[in-house]
Amino acid sequence: MDKLAIQGGQSLRGEIRISGAKNAALPILCAALLSADTLHLDNLPKLRDISTTLTLLGHIGCQISLDERGGIDLCSAQLARLEAPYHLVKTMRASILVLGPILTRYGEARVSLPGGCAIGSRPVDLHIKGLQAMGADIQIEHGYILARANRLQGARIVMENVTVTGTENLMMAATLAQGVTVLENAAREPEVVDLARCLVSMGARIQGVGTDTIVIEGVERLHGAQHTILPDRIETGTYLVAAAMTQGDIVLTHSSTDTLDVVLDKLREAGAQIHCAGDRIALRMDVRPQAVNLRTAPYPAFPTDMQAQFMAMNCIASGVGRITETIFENRFMHVQEMQRLGARIEIEGNTALVRGVERLQGATVMATDLRASASLVLAALVAEGETVIERIYHIDRGYECIEEKFNQLGAKVRRVH
Ligand code: EPZ
Repeated sequence: MDKLAIQGGQSLRGEIRISGAKNAALPILCAALLSADTLHLDNLPKLRDISTTLTLLGHIGCQISLDERGGIDLCSAQLARLEAPYHLVKTMRASILVLGPILTRYGEARVSLPGGCAIGSRPVDLHIKGLQAMGADIQIEHGYILARANRLQGARIVMENVTVTGTENLMMAATLAQGVTVLENAAREPEVVDLARCLVSMGARIQGVGTDTIVIEGVERLHGAQHTILPDRIETGTYLVAAAMTQGDIVLTHSSTDTLDVVLDKLREAGAQIHCAGDRIALRMDVRPQAVNLRTAPYPAFPTDMQAQFMAMNCIASGVGRITETIFENRFMHVQEMQRLGARIEIEGNTALVRGVERLQGATVMATDLRASASLVLAALVAEGETVIERIYHIDRGYECIEEKFNQLGAKVRRVH
């Protein structure tokens, strides 16, 4: 089990490149199952979740080849198996995203129910209800979703909860359905928009993406295309918070400056100076951060995937910050680990009250989920002495070359095998 050993106390300075967005790449890789032609993707991040998805697509029968520039060609002319087995799905819940594409193209699919995970029960009932509304016959047997449909029919679907992968699964299923599908209360995340852009380049007919009502007119088939994955806004936000916490001065390139408005506003509220130009974001912080209050909610509001990172910043900020998590029922796993570093946090229901302290003390802590792990790295950057973070496979799922990028900015991060 790898660990990260981090020496605190360095201010981050310099420039790093932001990678492609994990949460856009995952559904877009699954979109390759919708066409018999080749889908070419660029700017895929090198992450464990991406390799897990490629393994799953290979298992299903998708032909995959990498080009010398790091691009990838996917061809699903002939699929061998219309299934996503438990041993692959249990390592990555987003595997559920093969359900819509396989079902709408082949009329049947057998996909393992994803288990829960550290941050919550993570049901997929809205994915299933939506497919049933489109005429699918769905049985749940022995932990598997068994879905059948001669041809999915367009339907008007009002999503009870805003669900990112639920919106993505149903949007992909609707591209080859008979007739028009309307998704109401749809997710508006930039990753959903990027998926839709890719589907449209494959010949899908989609209107309204980026709003809460998406209209998809089914077509007979989709063709090949080329698509470049959009930059990762959560990776971007994570490095910006790290620079703010360490009173640093950084530039992020190949980033996106129009998908993080609320996060940038909160960083400015904390005292950071931020300048955006093209695909570059510069942040400079000369003072100890001011504590900020935040409440997570679906895009374009404050993203739940940035909650743990801002909690780390509040831990060493001046003043008291209130953080309310409204998306997941158990996304405060990082709190007890931060308390081991000397943080003063009280939890009342889905709200955490953080009283900033001058200094955290290094200690050994344990990563529990992807963004919680990232927040422990941030806390370690400002803690006194050395912090060792265990179970960092969580981090490798979502952050490409995390120690290289932090060390390029002057941090002292060492991977211990
Ligand atoms: C996506 O997860 C992201 N993952 C998550 O990022 C992100 O935290 C989350 O959206 C919220 O923004 C990917 O895109 C691969 P949801 P997803 O369905 O789609 C409830 C990361 O760190 N719900 O939008 O699984 C659910 O329980 C990961 O990169 C149902 O009740 O999240 C939750 O409370 C973590 N029934 C809420 O909706 C359903 O059928 C939002 O979940 C589906 C969801």
